[in-house]
Amino acid sequence: MKEIIKKAVIPVAGFGTRLLPATKSQPKEMLPIVDKPAVQYVVEEAIKSGAENILFITGRGKRAIEDYFDYAVELEKELEDKGKTDLLDEVRNISEMAKFFYVRQKIARGLGDAINHARGFIDDEYFSVLLADDIIDSEIPCLKQMINVFRNYRGMILAVMEVPRDKTNIYGIVNGKKISDRVYEVSDLIEKPEPEEALSNIAVIGRYILNANIFNAIEETKPGKGGEIQITDAIKSLIGREKIFAYEFKGMRYDVGEKIGFLKANIAYALKREDLGSELKEYLKKIVEETT
Ligand code: UTP
Repeated sequence: MKEIIKKAVIPVAGFGTRLLPATKSQPKEMLPIVDKPAVQYVVEEAIKSGAENILFITGRGKRAIEDYFDYAVELEKELEDKGKTDLLDEVRNISEMAKFFYVRQKIARGLGDAINHARGFIDDEYFSVLLADDIIDSEIPCLKQMINVFRNYRGMILAVMEVPRDKTNIYGIVNGKKISDRVYEVSDLIEKPEPEEALSNIAVIGRYILNANIFNAIEETKPGKGGEIQITDAIKSLIGREKIFAYEFKGMRYDVGEKIGFLKANIAYALKREDLGSELKEYLKKIVEETT
């Protein structure tokens, strides 16, 4: 099995019901975090981590994502005519960042099923999966950290973080033996367990390094929680046959697929910006004082 990870898969076919009504007629992945769509943060992370070919698993209502990573001919001409070269470069670079591929998941049957649509794109090799819901602010891109772990352990790697005990029922939860700083060998995995049945409070977030053996495992996976084909269940079925590790990444993760995470990410990223940070900070102080 090839061990150089150059292909990234980004599933974007979900409905985004937690952000309704904003997502009624536009993809949640295109909602901006400050001035860039959420999906661009994730694409940039993949590229900084070595990805060259990026496959989006899309669906109905997600065409804006394809347009975004394509040339915008009329817009580029307009910017060129007006001499707005900085903006022109920025807009053009988005479509030049990597090679983009698209396949449609006709029915949103779950994340496992979405990933199974990458079968024709992946040879006998390892690849990464990034969920555009999870934006991770870190010095070293999260996926790059995981690839460094992969180089030592040669197996599937799941990015994990500790979550409050009462939140286990919204995550895939890992059980395993700690084998080095931040790395666990996975011995069990459960999708969205209630707190009393959770094996730990170590939760899988939206970054995975998988290999081509995942596809047969997904094929054999029956619908699980919520009637969806869960990637957690497919990975669980490989325990004992594949080496599977969990890695506690370094960085701050925002779940931008839900309202509070989306708001926090916008504030945190804007506060770090030279052109926006100080004015926003003053404003936040003022409205906090006024409302408390
Ligand atoms: P989510 O669980 O966040 O589902 O999927 P969702 O439908 O997008 O959002 P909510 O829960 O209704 O608000 C995690 C990731 O998997 C993708 C989603 O696009 C998201 O990036 N996904 C999920 C698919 O591509 N296909 C599916 O069938 C399900």
